[in-house]
Amino acid sequence: MDFATKTIHFNQPADPVTGAVVSPIYQTTTFQQEGPGVNKGFDYSRTNNPTRKRLEGVLAELEGGSYCSVFGSGLAAEHAILQAYLKPGQEIVVPQDVYGGTFRMLHKVFEPIGCVVKNVDFADLSAVERTITEKTSLVWLESPTNPRLLVYDIRAIAKIAHAKGALVVVDNTFATPYFQRPFDLGADLVLHSVTKYLAGHSDLIQGAVIGKDAAVFEPVGFLLNALGGVPSAFDCWLTLRGLKTLELRMERHAQTAVRVAEALAAHPRVKQVYFPGLPDHPGHAIARAQMTGFGGMVSFELDGTLEEAEQFVKSRKYFALGESLGGVRALVCLPCKMTHASIPAETRHALGLSDTLIRLSPGIESTRDLVQDLIEGLDALGEKKANDELVAAGL
Ligand SMILES: Cc1ncc(COP(=O)(O)O)c(C=O)c1O
Repeated sequence: MDFATKTIHFNQPADPVTGAVVSPIYQTTTFQQEGPGVNKGFDYSRTNNPTRKRLEGVLAELEGGSYCSVFGSGLAAEHAILQAYLKPGQEIVVPQDVYGGTFRMLHKVFEPIGCVVKNVDFADLSAVERTITEKTSLVWLESPTNPRLLVYDIRAIAKIAHAKGALVVVDNTFATPYFQRPFDLGADLVLHSVTKYLAGHSDLIQGAVIGKDAAVFEPVGFLLNALGGVPSAFDCWLTLRGLKTLELRMERHAQTAVRVAEALAAHPRVKQVYFPGLPDHPGHAIARAQMTGFGGMVSFELDGTLEEAEQFVKSRKYFALGESLGGVRALVCLPCKMTHASIPAETRHALGLSDTLIRLSPGIESTRDLVQDLIEGLDALGEKKANDELVAAGL
């Protein structure tokens, strides 16, 4: 079965009782038992639920894994992995520009209990190698990253990590399994904020962990029930519905992203565009080698002030100002004040996350309308003000 067929047919037969081609939502807390402890494989919906199970089967298959647990959020999924594999005294090695919520969980939840968080530039493979020690249990990366869309060499990093006995977790939220399959590149666990492209409609919060090896996956799967961060059956059903158009949506998102990146790169008020599909992007060659498309996200640095960046993001016609990404409706975000506000300003600046960095999640609206909306917004800023004008204005 090809990818698009799997999203519609895999693990999704017609309902055996009624013939309904769309599976019912098993909106139930518990399951009537034939005798004490005798059931049809389901006893309580935190432990297992037929709608969730269906979704877990599809996600495992799309990623090329064997096991999946779906959680109530991407961060709940991350928590289960960290709880299972990062014990006090152990180390985790992560890139410098990891998602803000992951950064917060590592530094505010796991560091205080004695876990060691080591940040390193994952583009520098020898630095990664030097940073991993015998105490490193996890090497964790996103690629492309949020929000600068840096691309890391997953295969090379997995090789280094495995040689030192660490497990590799890849957050595949931005690429989706349609454009990138981390297990083929050596990942041990794949993580998703399902909230984003997989569900795809900005109408739910959900996460998933997918594994290939039973022994590696089992401690995480156990924690879904033991910690209890489960999704609702309705949200699982919505994700199953969203997945059916994943291929179509990703194709459209990716096509629009190319046009948006090109239009931005040609505008005088844009200092830099971050999009792995542009030939001058530092990760372009790696993206070409390990992805089958460049994804749908584009970030750029405005050549201007924070106030101008705020004016731009507030006044778009089609790009709603909001957190999140990957939905059918376009979104725009100013990471320094939104998604990455939990990272201290000095750290943000050291990581190259400037205050005028703007992140775009083009939706599946008309490409022309979206590009025009962005260009109108940049044109409206006028010419860049000279330094003495900025000083006079107190900026
Ligand atoms: C790359 C990435 N990973 C994980 C998360 C966390 O997922 P959630 O918001 O579903 O908890 C996000 C959320 O923005 C994300 O962008």
